Amino acid sequence: MKPKIFITGKIPEKGLKFLQDSCQVKVYSKNQVISQKELIKGVKWCDALLCLLTDKINKKIVDVNPNLKIISNYAVGYNNIDIKYATKKGIPVTNTPGVLTDAVAEHTFALLLAVARRISESDKLIRAGKCNDWEPMLLLGSQMKSKTLGVIGLGKIGAGVAERAHKSIGVNVLYHDIKRNSKFEREYKAKFVSLNDLLKKSDFITLHIPLLPSTKHLIGKKGLSMMKKTAYLINTSRGPVIDEEALVQALKRKQIAGAALDVFENEPKLSPGLAKLDNVVLTPHTASATVEARTAMSELATKNILAVLSGKKAEFTVNPEVYRKR
Ligand code: DGY
Repeated sequence: MKPKIFITGKIPEKGLKFLQDSCQVKVYSKNQVISQKELIKGVKWCDALLCLLTDKINKKIVDVNPNLKIISNYAVGYNNIDIKYATKKGIPVTNTPGVLTDAVAEHTFALLLAVARRISESDKLIRAGKCNDWEPMLLLGSQMKSKTLGVIGLGKIGAGVAERAHKSIGVNVLYHDIKRNSKFEREYKAKFVSLNDLLKKSDFITLHIPLLPSTKHLIGKKGLSMMKKTAYLINTSRGPVIDEEALVQALKRKQIAGAALDVFENEPKLSPGLAKLDNVVLTPHTASATVEARTAMSELATKNILAVLSGKKAEFTVNPEVYRKR
């Protein structure tokens, strides 16, 4: 009997090819987030679950199938899964790190430039036929060269953004993380600072942290009030790390210059007022949306499944302690 794989949404075909010969595969193919009912049905049926970051894999879902062998998340972040409970039940949870680093770093870099140079506003204005002839004072933005970029969370993506901004534009880099990285400091002349110092001194702040109870609303009213009036906030990590309501207020009052967001507190809904602001650039959680990254994610997510189904440890397991229990 071939093992059964349930995939909760359409993903690039390339990864699925690895499964075709050796597994039975069912894909939820509607263009919407799978309902709880359909998810339960799929999980009951399968041996391995390949899920998306929009699926809440909570205790109830885990309990649906006592024989579930693996939860393979099609994402690097895994805050959508109750890891503690999956671990208790001995189920490996895997993710897809590394392969989307460049895509997300490039998107973050694009957002930095877009918000600093008011690209969305400019686009809207010219499309609406509201531009006169060339005007010396039209849509003045902020130059990035020699400004200070503050990176919160120096994982691969945060470092990738710093690399691009430092090497190609010549920004100075500050960073804050739970640990220091002296190699990074040497390579990019970067300075490790406290979170408060980073907020106070940076002209551009970019967030690259996981969503944990300790990082929820890391940037709220107080943090925003520490930022320079001329500073920009960029987030491509997880929406709830920013108190979005407080951000809207700060942007409305021009307490900071602008924000560029790829992720939202109640995705895909936006906090009231956010969409009306001119000093924001918004993208719909598409930072990793390149053909290359999404294809590689599908390959990695399926490879993780095949490893576990063949009795091996998957390379990217977020709760490796489950293997010791077996
Ligand atoms: C992830 O993989 O966690 C990203 O948010 C997807 O874009």
